[in-house]
Amino acid sequence: MLILGIETSCDETAIAVVENGQRVISNVVFSSVFSHKRFWGVVPEIAVRVHLQKINWVLKKAGVNLKEIGAIAVTYGPGLIGALLIGVCFAKGLAFSKKIPLIKVNHLLAHLYSPFLNSSSEFSPEGVFPAVGMVISGGHTGLIYLRNFEDYQLLGQTRDDAAGEAFDKVAKILNLAYPGGPVIEKSALRGDGRRVRFNCANLKDFDFSFSGIKTAVLYKARRQKTEDRRQKTEDIAAGFQKAVVDVLVEKAIAACLFKRCRNLILGGGVTANSYLKKEMFRKAAEQGIELFYPLFQFCADNAAMVAGLAYHLQNEKHFAGLDLTPCADLIID
Ligand code: KG4
Ligand code: ZN
Repeated sequence: MLILGIETSCDETAIAVVENGQRVISNVVFSSVFSHKRFWGVVPEIAVRVHLQKINWVLKKAGVNLKEIGAIAVTYGPGLIGALLIGVCFAKGLAFSKKIPLIKVNHLLAHLYSPFLNSSSEFSPEGVFPAVGMVISGGHTGLIYLRNFEDYQLLGQTRDDAAGEAFDKVAKILNLAYPGGPVIEKSALRGDGRRVRFNCANLKDFDFSFSGIKTAVLYKARRQKTEDRRQKTEDIAAGFQKAVVDVLVEKAIAACLFKRCRNLILGGGVTANSYLKKEMFRKAAEQGIELFYPLFQFCADNAAMVAGLAYHLQNEKHFAGLDLTPCADLIID
């Protein structure tokens, strides 16, 4: 069965076709990230306009034959309300005019489905659940206990900034570029995290906080002497990245141990970070935990993860009608 996925929750206009929840037939992503660069963050008004201008082009580029499509899946939240509206209205228009069933998908759970796309082994719920899921993106950071993709419980989440947002803000403080994740990772490769140490707030439960470390970076950066600024920036980037990765790895493993769970699923834009990937695999192996990690092309926002998850959500709870409305702050609780 072929499912067409549509994703417009933030600054990526994405359409994909996925066969039987796993084989990605086409996956087109148009990002408006370049339009946001000079503002150091996503400007909702710009993102929405670009979605509107590009969504038809993205559909054409995906080479979809609507006659072959068994269902249309769309992200209905969480995200920017105007951005979600474009995808939801577009999906409803296609579904209504072509008489194709419509499936609504939660963006955070879709990120947690990304490790199962184009993977070498078949996705089988028996092999994966129960699992601890960790979403680490620009908008969210949280730990979720999943009995399956329809029965889950929030274990903890950030009390302030998301991890990706912290990368973006620290990159601005260090005068690097937007988005912050890739440039901090690159800068950190030339630095030494042991020369400039940072810590993230040590919260007792499974919640996170990344606002304090941002302020610590700001004060450290201000104290830099001009002569050694480049080296210092690289060391700060490395120290910051290490502190964030340390807390993410530590809490993910602690949540698995707490729930006596042997499976850990990761998703979200920050998983593109190779230092995080290396540390997460190392610590998971030490504890005998199996780690499900997305391929690089599925780390950031895409529609393949939406179409893939929808294959497993074909029931009354998830089929949607023309009254489907997006939900900006759709939460997992
Ligand atoms: O999942 P995503 O594409 O969008 C949201 O749903 O928010 O995540 C985007 C976030 C940005 O904050 C970006 O800086 C971060 O992912 N990111 C990274 C890396 N690549 C992207 N963070 C750390 N290291 C990276 N290599
Ligand atoms: Zn996302």
